[in-house]
Amino acid sequence: MKARLKELEANAISELESVTDIKSLDPWRVYYLGKNGSLTQILRSLKNLSPDERKSVGAQANKLKLLLQSELQRKKDFLKENELSRAFEKKDLDISLPGRAFPAGRTHPITQSLREICHIFSTMGFGVVEGPEVELDYYNFEALNIPPDHPARDMFDTLWLDSSVDGDSNPMLLRTHTSPMQIRIMENSPPPIRVIVPGKVYRYEASDATHESMFTQVEGLAVGEGITLANLKGTLFEFASRLFGAERKMRFRCDYFPFVEPGVEMSIECLACGGNGCKLCSNSGWLEILGAGMVHPDVLKRVGYDPQIYSGFAFGLGVERIPMLKYGVEDIRLFYENDTRFLKQF
Ligand code: DAH
Repeated sequence: MKARLKELEANAISELESVTDIKSLDPWRVYYLGKNGSLTQILRSLKNLSPDERKSVGAQANKLKLLLQSELQRKKDFLKENELSRAFEKKDLDISLPGRAFPAGRTHPITQSLREICHIFSTMGFGVVEGPEVELDYYNFEALNIPPDHPARDMFDTLWLDSSVDGDSNPMLLRTHTSPMQIRIMENSPPPIRVIVPGKVYRYEASDATHESMFTQVEGLAVGEGITLANLKGTLFEFASRLFGAERKMRFRCDYFPFVEPGVEMSIECLACGGNGCKLCSNSGWLEILGAGMVHPDVLKRVGYDPQIYSGFAFGLGVERIPMLKYGVEDIRLFYENDTRFLKQF
């Protein structure tokens, strides 16, 4: 048996020596080390030997197995190396070719705008907080002066959730705006307050070029002693001039939102025509960018603030509209189709 092993070793090594290409290594491996290979057969027949013989032949056979395995690996490495240097010599392989670049990911245009907006407000002293997207009727409507029978509910096509916290008395919904965070923030902290709230909001509506059922808003809230509409105007004009350029004209006009009094809408001079009138601004020369106002005294009372002492302003802007206006994107749905040919332009 021992002699057979010796012979096997000599044959295997000399055959391996004569192999000159990687492909021919496999038949060698199968012949000697494979499931039915010569060495495997010897190992299997060990059980017929006497215990003493089994011990010494077994050790020798296992040693041989390890040897053949390591010789195989060595030969493989050697042949690989050889192939490579032959390729170099034949100039098949041009190692001076530049590597292929990996496609680089980039920040989504809405995230870019959101970051820019948050940055501007944080340099003006506003903190940034986020809130829940699943909201209670109370915060989304009731506490903002929009009781169940209020016609303003029609402005918000709401996605209601089946579940409710305590029966139907406090139904849940996907927030239709970021304004409910005004209430949550005031409930949890005393004035003075100066925060913005970026986040996703949802509306139950068919999407078209200017409407999506999910979009992004930034809410702003400042409450303290002696805050006036002039503070609101100063803050928002400063914000818009940083975002759109100081040369851009801006204006406030009356608008109505149940949770502010007075309420305003703010517009900037049309980015496409510079105020002369075009398709983008429906010939008005102006683009509306946000809603705002002075926090309604009833809202302040509801969170336990004394409206005789405190006043504040609030505003809410739609984020998608900003890159749409800036870059002339004509369809809001493009932002959420995940077509990288569109997204990588920003
Ligand atoms: N929440 C309003 C909307 O989604 C926008 C808004 C208007 C927010 C006036 C405000 C505000 O804070 O004062 O249409």
